[in-house]
Amino acid sequence: MRNVIPVAILVGTLAGGVAWSQTSPKPVAKRAAEKSGSEVGAAKFASNGALIRPVGHRKWVFVGSPVTPHDMNGGKAAFPEFHNVYIDIASYDEYAKTGKYREGTVLVKELVAVGGKSASSGKGYFQGEFIGLEAVVKSSKHFPEEPGHWAFFSFTAEKGQPEIQTAKAFPTASCNSCHAGAQEDYVFSEYYPVLRAAKESAEPSAK
Ligand code: HEC
Repeated sequence: MRNVIPVAILVGTLAGGVAWSQTSPKPVAKRAAEKSGSEVGAAKFASNGALIRPVGHRKWVFVGSPVTPHDMNGGKAAFPEFHNVYIDIASYDEYAKTGKYREGTVLVKELVAVGGKSASSGKGYFQGEFIGLEAVVKSSKHFPEEPGHWAFFSFTAEKGQPEIQTAKAFPTASCNSCHAGAQEDYVFSEYYPVLRAAKESAEPSAK
């Protein structure tokens, strides 16, 4: 019974919303974590259903970088400023094959401030600090009621605050309603040249 106390601590920690990866490496503790949380594709959920902050997304497929700078949005962009968007690798592979977002697709939007407006290459917008992280997850199992089975999350912390480790899905009206205006399946693929190119090369019957 040597493991009873560590497991109890682990479960308590999960309920408090801390990522699994920070917990004990003991096999028995790992099994307990897997039992209380769940996952689909690249998305991992805590036992309370909150999405665990994606890790390693900077090694995923980078699909595009829309930019909505403050100075073109009256000093207050809704989503400042660069939006570096990534898709998990297995979902990219599936999209390139079928032209569809698979169950378990995760797209991450990492917000980056404009750091400067001039370089030796010329005038422009150059990326500065990381300032936020948002994600969308498609899962019919976890989000049967959401349009397209997509749920929306934000891990963006107030300035100076520590990183947010878990996030609950937003209500449908906050995010999905605007994403319904995207050309396909609630994702603004039309702004991501890498996904446009992948879709072009998808099997013709799948488009
Ligand atoms: C008023 C419209 C609007 C609302 C509301 C909105 N978004 Fe978006 N979102 C966009 C547009 C347009 C893009 C693509 C262009 C860009 O990034 O500027 C986008 C892109 C994204 C992406 C990248 C993947 C994708 O689907 O294209 C994520 C992640 C995202 N939004 C999360 C959210 C979250 C979380 C919320 C709710 C808090 C939200 N969005 C609310 C318009 C919106």
